[in-house]
Amino acid sequence: MGRNALITGGTDGIGKAYAKELVKLGYNVIIVGHTEEKGKAAASEIKQAAGGGRIQFWKADLSLISEVSRISKLFLSQFEHLDILVLCAFQMQLKRKITSEGFEKSFALYYLSRFALIQFLDSVIGIRGETRIVDFATPGQNYGEIDFSDLQMEKSYSAMNALKRGSFCNDLMAVEYSKRMSGRQAAFILVWPGTVRTGVVNPYPQPLKSIFKLYLWFFGISPEKIGNISKYYTTDKSLMNNRLNVFHRDKEIKLGSSRLDSNLAQKLWEKSLQLICDVQINCTFTTK
Ligand SMILES: NC(=O)c1ccc[n+]([C@@H]2O[C@H](COP(=O)([O-])OP(=O)(O)OC[C@H]3O[C@@H](n4cnc5c(N)ncnc54)[C@H](OP(=O)(O)O)[C@@H]3O)[C@@H](O)[C@H]2O)c1
Repeated sequence: MGRNALITGGTDGIGKAYAKELVKLGYNVIIVGHTEEKGKAAASEIKQAAGGGRIQFWKADLSLISEVSRISKLFLSQFEHLDILVLCAFQMQLKRKITSEGFEKSFALYYLSRFALIQFLDSVIGIRGETRIVDFATPGQNYGEIDFSDLQMEKSYSAMNALKRGSFCNDLMAVEYSKRMSGRQAAFILVWPGTVRTGVVNPYPQPLKSIFKLYLWFFGISPEKIGNISKYYTTDKSLMNNRLNVFHRDKEIKLGSSRLDSNLAQKLWEKSLQLICDVQINCTFTTK
């Protein structure tokens, strides 16, 4: 039985570079993105770079929980085990947008969809063998507080505030999930890749876009370099000894005390389950 990897946002940037490495390592890789042409082109580029191998592109708008659910069902219908889940789907939202399911889009894509995917794929994570969840975000930064009374940022939206809230939520998700993984052969690997030369700044208008691109060019590293480092997240056996591993590239880092607050992490977990259930028919999740 082959090893399976699912990569959200695997059609560009860090996710695509990671996909190349996983195909080279012999994984059966599925990349998910929301642009058809880009996804197909990325799949052939990955195959060519890896000199063959198994790679599929699945199209989905992961800012929608219904789409996260559809992709999860598709995966469960084809595979009995998930070896690596890589979470990279991301898009900067300069203006506050609401998805058709009623969530602020940055919150939906950067955090809630990642949380939902893990819930939907629960039965194939760390049960029939080891699973590594590699979550690319911005851990270890001091990003203030989370306002639970305004999680959807009706009052205080800015692209930067949304980024900070999303990063905080990813940190808390990692903390709470790693606590709940007992009895599973699973490890959560939370990664801050630092500045990487990707299309992450593309949504900005000119001239800001060119200025940010210059910044990325001078101070960033290539996605391929992160892809290369990612082999370590994939293969290092010692990472499976810890439920939660946090990295800045290849250096282990610590989360600040606000991120390790288990009451806060549990509160976000329960709120997130409730949000998913609000848009799911026949929701079976419980907060326990
Ligand atoms: N680059 C950096 O400097 C940096 C720094 C810190 C953290 N990170 C983190 O690293 C991760 C990857 O970032 P990146 O720089 O590689 O980004 P990127 O190059 O912009 O790639 C983003 C990926 O997400 C996909 N995507 C966007 N919206 C989607 C949607 N609605 N549904 C499904 N897929 C969607 C994109 O595909 P489509 O275009 O087809 O939608 C693309 O494959 C992110 O979580 C980011 O927060 C990056």
